[in-house]
Amino acid sequence: MDKNIKNIVVLVSGGGTNLQALIDAQSRGEIKGGRISCVISSKADAYALERARKAGIKARVLARKDFGDIRDYSKAMRDTLTEEQADFVVYAGFMTILDEQVCKAFPYRMVNVHPALIPSFCGKGFYGLHVHEAALAKGVKVSGATVHFVTEECDGGPIILQGTVEVANDDTPETLQRRIMENVEWKLLPKAVSLLCEGRITVKDGRAFVDL
Ligand code: GAR
Repeated sequence: MDKNIKNIVVLVSGGGTNLQALIDAQSRGEIKGGRISCVISSKADAYALERARKAGIKARVLARKDFGDIRDYSKAMRDTLTEEQADFVVYAGFMTILDEQVCKAFPYRMVNVHPALIPSFCGKGFYGLHVHEAALAKGVKVSGATVHFVTEECDGGPIILQGTVEVANDDTPETLQRRIMENVEWKLLPKAVSLLCEGRITVKDGRAFVDL
């Protein structure tokens, strides 16, 4: 295996449409300098696992429910990521907040996609459809998604890429979620992962700078 090709491990918990976007981008040759080497799910029945298997990618389950507290789960995840020789870790709809043991082992080597314009509608409790419910309740006129580095602060790491969509008067959480996924998440996540593998993102004074 080419040592210059980075191992990308993708963490999932659900449907895996962001994983699919990464797989599709990879098959189009758009992930430069890396390859998805393994997918790890926190749930045994996540459809994302099926997507990985169909694409011939190693799929593993590290079930959150098999661990009492988050410390034990985080330790097991850190050990699994090390065993998989992960260079970069991508949270693609991964719904568990891992503790500092994992962040410390992979400093600025983990990215997450969040379905809102951070610092709005983020942090503990803001995940999946809840994010879009909160955005609609506030009456925001634009929303979007953010790809950022994972640090110890939930959704607080340096922002890498953001993109926006307009909110329609008759949006439901589901229609808004879909528009954000199609127009922002599925495009920006593969782009950010490629930039990362190519070494085109630097962090200085808590800010990420992208060499576009
Ligand atoms: C995506 O919208 C992702 O941004 C969000 O969950 C959805 C997962 O969909 N992630 C979070 O809310 C994390 N805080 P997917 O499984 O189809 O990629």
